[in-house]
Amino acid sequence: MSDPAPAIAEALDALRRGEVIGLPTETVYGLAADASNADAVRRIFALKGRPADHPVIVHIADASALRRWARSVPAPAQALAAAFWPGPLTLILPRQSSVADVVTGGQDTVGLRCPSHPLALCLLREFGGGLAAPSANRFGHISPTSAEHVRAEFGDDVPLVLDGGDCEVGIESTIVAFTGSRPRILRPGRITRAEIEAVVGTVDAGVDSGSPRASGTLEAHYAPRTPMLLLARAALEVEARQQAALGKRVRVLALDALPANVQGLVLPARAADYAHGLYAAMRALDEGGGQLLLVERPPAGPGWLAVQDRLRRAAAGAEPGDDSP
Ligand code: TXA
Ligand code: MG
Repeated sequence: MSDPAPAIAEALDALRRGEVIGLPTETVYGLAADASNADAVRRIFALKGRPADHPVIVHIADASALRRWARSVPAPAQALAAAFWPGPLTLILPRQSSVADVVTGGQDTVGLRCPSHPLALCLLREFGGGLAAPSANRFGHISPTSAEHVRAEFGDDVPLVLDGGDCEVGIESTIVAFTGSRPRILRPGRITRAEIEAVVGTVDAGVDSGSPRASGTLEAHYAPRTPMLLLARAALEVEARQQAALGKRVRVLALDALPANVQGLVLPARAADYAHGLYAAMRALDEGGGQLLLVERPPAGPGWLAVQDRLRRAAAGAEPGDDSP
């Protein structure tokens, strides 16, 4: 890779001017701005078309910056940061009163994460402050896992995208909230419940009525525009044949091997590799001229939970199918 220093210097200048940049992280690309500049953060919302009451994650250089944003950091939160940062884990903590409302969506909490991507870390260390960054996609659409995806999503509206290559993890961070009596996983990710419980003991999972709002917890999210069905392999093969017989242009996302006579893509039957390739595959299939996207349901099991979650939301959020061929 070419020397990243000039690109980082340019990104720093842009951030200090209050501009929004495309930021590589190990999970997905973010749309980043100075978290202490409310106008800059508002611009992220405008670009994404995101409702104003949805909070954004503040990315920080290390756990020593936690107290600048969070007014209290319970011991289990500190332990998770020590265990998994830099890495794909976001902590939801009580906010400091100095944190801008636009960052927290007006809630009493703030989301904090230290990403492990070397370019993001280098930028954060030089920047010194926090970077507010949601995933760099229009609201409800598929998260980007390459600089090219960000450019396709925003074009000239986001002229500076730091190119950090393909994201290693490929799906968004695990979110753990410290707002109730026990830590609660609000969004599953690469770091699993078992890994978290090994550090802090039993946690809750899923969203309850007292949980903070999180767009990643909306039922319809991370969605392609093509109607999408999630099916077991045998049912998928039947559906693909029937739809093709009706004249529909079917595209398939399969595990390990494509069924005969269908167009589509294959992802590996190992959860981490599948997650790494998932969003790029969904984007490619969404743009591939198909009228119906059939996705083979991956195996059950704790390692697949985050992938299952994203696929379920994608199927819920895709355009409703129409019956005409
Ligand atoms: O991996 C990731 O987390 C990526 C990269 C760029 O860091 N970011 C990401 O951001 O996925 P976003 O905004 O697309 O999703 C973050 C989720 C949202 O569902 C948001 O509502 C939630 O985190 N969130 C952020 N701050 C929160 C808070 N104070 N309380 C509750 N949820 C919060
Ligand atoms: Mg997002």
